[in-house]
Amino acid sequence: MATSNAPLVGIIMGSDSDLPVMQPAADMLAHFGISYELTVVSAHRTPQRMVQYATQAKDRGLKIIIAGAGGAAHLPGMVASLTPLPVIGVPVKSSNSIDGWDSVLSILQMPNGIPVATVALNAAKNAGILAASIVGAFDKTTGEKIAAYKAGLEKEVLGKVEKLKASGQPNGFDTESQGGRNL
Ligand code: RP5
Repeated sequence: MATSNAPLVGIIMGSDSDLPVMQPAADMLAHFGISYELTVVSAHRTPQRMVQYATQAKDRGLKIIIAGAGGAAHLPGMVASLTPLPVIGVPVKSSNSIDGWDSVLSILQMPNGIPVATVALNAAKNAGILAASIVGAFDKTTGEKIAAYKAGLEKEVLGKVEKLKASGQPNGFDTESQGGRNL
């Protein structure tokens, strides 16, 4: 029962308190023109909703799931165990988290066979970029947007190199051509 107009990416999080951290994932998907949906699914507080979301995701037409949670962050791993879709996990430094390490380890240390592509603590922006990169591996237009985005980052850093040089810092290293990446 795949619907043709279903979004490509599902963004889920354990609580609406995760939204300020998770919003950049949505922002990056919007930047790259990728359709998404965003909702709250709690592994511990709405376990049946989690099972339904994960088991129906592929048939609904989603291609990638981004899941964020904090503390005992079981949402990304449990969703990954219930769907054949790739799951990107975002550890959230939440109010119930011990410095974020519990969130990171809960999402990162998955058993063999059930991977979760875990980004850095609170790094929902990277989760959005990674999801877009997966789409870009198959969709030419998105792939070109990703390449342009990365070229822009390079240009930005090389601009900082020039700024430091101009400020009189001794720079002993210059690349032959500024840039030269061929993504
Ligand atoms: C986790 O508990 C959620 O993902 C959130 O990061 C954290 C706190 O949730 P709330 O108490 O704010 O609802 O399950």
